[in-house]
Amino acid sequence: MQMQLPESLVEEAVLVWQVETTGIRPLHPQEQAIARNFGSQKRQEEFALARQAARQAMEALGYPPLPVGKGPRGEPLWPLGQVASLAHNQGAAVCVLAKRTSSLIGLGIDLEPVGRTLSGGAISSVFNQAERSLLKTDQDALVAFAAKEAVFKCLYPLSGVWFGFAGAELINLEKGHFQMNLKAEVWPGKLPSQPLRGHWWQAQQRIFALVGLDQSLKWI
Ligand SMILES: CC(C)(COP(=O)(O)OP(=O)(O)OC[C@H]1O[C@@H](n2cnc3c(N)ncnc32)[C@H](O)[C@@H]1OP(=O)(O)O)[C@@H](O)C(=O)NCCC(=O)NCCS
Repeated sequence: MQMQLPESLVEEAVLVWQVETTGIRPLHPQEQAIARNFGSQKRQEEFALARQAARQAMEALGYPPLPVGKGPRGEPLWPLGQVASLAHNQGAAVCVLAKRTSSLIGLGIDLEPVGRTLSGGAISSVFNQAERSLLKTDQDALVAFAAKEAVFKCLYPLSGVWFGFAGAELINLEKGHFQMNLKAEVWPGKLPSQPLRGHWWQAQQRIFALVGLDQSLKWI
């Protein structure tokens, strides 16, 4: 099922939500080989759900439903020319895929179940003191966590630079949006000039966090 995207991304991408496991198409042999290495049935199912969401998104944009591989650090390997991101959680998966006409060079999405509470230990390892002062509720912490994961998923495939939670510092969290300062050196000598701005919202009992980066290194 296609879902509504935040306004600034409506003309740029499609978002597909998949929960139904019955009737999903079999994995491509290349994907089957990846899935065989997963220990749990649940992981295999979510991998398949995410591939189903990806194929639906490709078809919605007029692409053939091609396989999505997996790189050495877990990153999805999209068919040539496609810019996209996947997330899955508790029996659901989403795929966000840029339109052919879009100037997006990177997308990152994450999902967290509404009501999940991050432990004190998790909060201390993900957020510094200044960031923690912005987190007024458990939900704020969850949104900010999802936001960091989405930022990573957007930037890692572009840069090949693995960075930790200190690599993007939360500086603002408000209804629908978050802002961060990118600390990680993902492009040596060429950091985007404005703070990173991303989107978050609640739907389907999940928190969604989404970022999109265009070719002029503007966050949209
Ligand atoms: C890699 C990571 C972001 C995946 O997030 P997750 O919450 O565990 O899992 P999700 O269900 O949300 O997403 C899984 C999907 O993310 C994608 N993904 C995995 N590794 C990725 C990477 N290195 N780059 C981009 N996307 C990646 C994959 O498509 C994966 O689905 P698949 O295995 O079925 O293809 C997370 O496990 C991680 O290692 N985070 C540490 C790095 C980080 O977040 N730094 C913070 C920067 S501020």
